[in-house]
Amino acid sequence: MITLALAKGRIQTEALPLFAACNIVPAEDLDRSRKLIIATNRSDVRLLVVRATDVPTYVQHGAADLGVTGGDTLYEHTSGGLYSPVDLQIAKCRMVVACHKDYDYAAAAQPGARLAVASKYVQLARDHFARKRMHIDLIKLYGSMELAPLTGLAHAIVDLVDTGNTLRANNLVAVEEIMSVSSKLIANPASMKLKRAMLQPLIEEIAAAVEQNTARK
Ligand code: ATP
Ligand code: PRP
Repeated sequence: MITLALAKGRIQTEALPLFAACNIVPAEDLDRSRKLIIATNRSDVRLLVVRATDVPTYVQHGAADLGVTGGDTLYEHTSGGLYSPVDLQIAKCRMVVACHKDYDYAAAAQPGARLAVASKYVQLARDHFARKRMHIDLIKLYGSMELAPLTGLAHAIVDLVDTGNTLRANNLVAVEEIMSVSSKLIANPASMKLKRAMLQPLIEEIAAAVEQNTARK
């Protein structure tokens, strides 16, 4: 049996057509079912419905052989122990520094300067400002990061942007791009050894489905 941990929400929505192209279809509607372990049309594959941030943990500990989650989440998962064999090219967005449109970020963001930064992505934020040789007071948030510069909680945020609608609606602007983000297929290293005969063909099928998907776009 292959167990695949799938991040629910946006990633699940974009990943299911890729799996369908590999003839893996959930046995029930994931949006309606309250079950967390979902059988598929293939007797050798089952899905775990998991929060995006928990996917690396399930795969690292071998509770799932494979997983699908965002590159942003993987960056924050610092305990390692994961293979990432395929970039699925879905749930694409960018990680940026953003602040209020009237804030003079260029003047503030000087080497040696100190800035209050709010983010859910603490590792990414730390690494980014360390590269800029800046000191930050890091405020950990779990969502609605855009509120932080509007309420005086922080000078800047580190968050994901896609269309830019959320920033615009809140009078914020992206002032620096940190990295582009997409979702990845991840694998447990022990599973890759013990279940190679089952996993390798599936990984190749998924990689082929990604290529077809990207060629179509
Ligand atoms: P959790 O509730 O587990 O903290 P979340 O609220 O971040 O997860 P989603 O909003 O579904 O869950 O985002 C999941 C992933 O989708 C993100 O980690 C990122 O990789 C990607 N993502 C987030 N926002 C966007 C966006 N606006 N456009 C495209 N992809 C996005
Ligand atoms: C994500 C992200 C931004 C928004 C950016 O939030 O944290 O707020 O999308 O997308 P846009 O540039 O297209 O507006 P999400 O919609 O996942 O809500 P969340 O705060 O619940 O994570």
